[in-house]
Amino acid sequence: MTQRSAAVLELDDIQRGLLQARPSPYAGTYLLLRIADRDAGRRLIQRLLPHVASAAAPMDRPDGASLSVGFTHEGLKALGLPPETLESFALEFREGMAARAAHLGDTGRSSPEHWEPPLGTSDVHVALAVLAPDEARLDGLRQRARRAHEDLPGDEVVWRQQCYQLPSGRTSFGFKDVIGQPAVEGSGVPPTNPHEPPIKAGEFVLGYPDETGSLPPMPTPEVLGRNGTYMVVRKLHTRVAAYRQYLRARARSREEEALLGAKIVGRWPSGAPLALAPEKDDPDLGADDRRNNGFAYADDLQGFKCPAGAHARRANPRDALDYEGSTEVRLHRMLRRGTSYGPMLPAGVLEDDGADRGIVFVFLGTHIDRQFEFVKTQWLNDGVFIGAPDERDPLTGPNHGSERFTIPRRPIRRRLEEMPPFVITRGGEYCFVPGLRALRWLGGLET
Ligand code: HEM
Repeated sequence: MTQRSAAVLELDDIQRGLLQARPSPYAGTYLLLRIADRDAGRRLIQRLLPHVASAAAPMDRPDGASLSVGFTHEGLKALGLPPETLESFALEFREGMAARAAHLGDTGRSSPEHWEPPLGTSDVHVALAVLAPDEARLDGLRQRARRAHEDLPGDEVVWRQQCYQLPSGRTSFGFKDVIGQPAVEGSGVPPTNPHEPPIKAGEFVLGYPDETGSLPPMPTPEVLGRNGTYMVVRKLHTRVAAYRQYLRARARSREEEALLGAKIVGRWPSGAPLALAPEKDDPDLGADDRRNNGFAYADDLQGFKCPAGAHARRANPRDALDYEGSTEVRLHRMLRRGTSYGPMLPAGVLEDDGADRGIVFVFLGTHIDRQFEFVKTQWLNDGVFIGAPDERDPLTGPNHGSERFTIPRRPIRRRLEEMPPFVITRGGEYCFVPGLRALRWLGGLET
């Protein structure tokens, strides 16, 4: 089926966390639950439902809190869905993240055998994200979520992760994150990059045409698939001390240390993009949400301002791949809802304090394979697309200590050699995030 007109999104049936940005700052908890059987799962969903807001709901709830709900394939099995329904989901979701580990580059210390239990096992069924603007309000919602499951026999919390976003928006390596986001056509959320027209809703919400003009494959029956999406959750440990030591050893001055860090990320710590601030950080630009995502790369194809291999440029090359009318980049966009976990390593400390810290990375989109997996495997983990086969993403790529990172520079380029891994995967899950009507259907309240 081919359609080109803008779709009208059924906002009142879409979970709010899919389309609306999170409050900033915020405190949150991710909970993973195991359900014993269909009845236990249905009771849990019935209790959670009143707390799940739609994308049409006003943002000004008195407590500013929100709850999002997703299910793994094992969870949908535990809910007793029939085989034809279970098989109607995308292959990679059915297989689960652990089964895709080698493809994703989750090997060595990042491989599933080292993951935090029970991540990647058949014990993970339901994923809850509970968020609020601060700890006090979070506690209120957490208690309501707890009451929803604690006296239910057959529901068990199997994993819990506290998370937060600092008022500065910075995460553990010291950089402001989650600035670059696509605008979703019809969502009502305005674009932040004037160089990128809104992306078709079907790239992010099932039931609408995507960038190819077709409806993305949708799980059946329609009541289950429509207005849902897929979610990727990854707990990523960041080796902050190793990162700081690496830069200190390679830089001739503190200024150069900051520059090398920015070249690795593609932005300065404040969030100012190298494309607009190539020489030094510009905190006003970084803080200005109307300007800090308004840039392109086509005037810098050689990467003198922002290296083609920098993390953010690999993850979204913007117009740098636009040749002969190609708009391929639009097929690989992702909504991200990343968040920090663990204590920050104090500024200036170079020794590892042994604390577990990093990011709970969250991707939302209708195509796990051509969005999340493609970006992770082709653009972040592989050097071929930027013409450097022996290079990977210097920030998050599966480096082993022998890879390099090229920084174009006149008169001669700079090369960082022996890139160690700065990010270790602690585990993750592929989930399905149903629409609200689908949640009622899963809870046995709707046919
Ligand atoms: C611990 C792991 C990670 C860290 C510390 C990290 C950090 C960052 C930072 C600081 C930025 C710049 C801010 C922004 O543009 O929003 C960024 C951008 C981005 N990252 Fe990551 N990231 C991580 C993992 C990932 C992964 C696994 C993916 C995808 C598979 C990813 C995809 C993106 C995308 C799509 C952008 C936006 C690029 C743009 O639109 O210009 N990141 N990341």
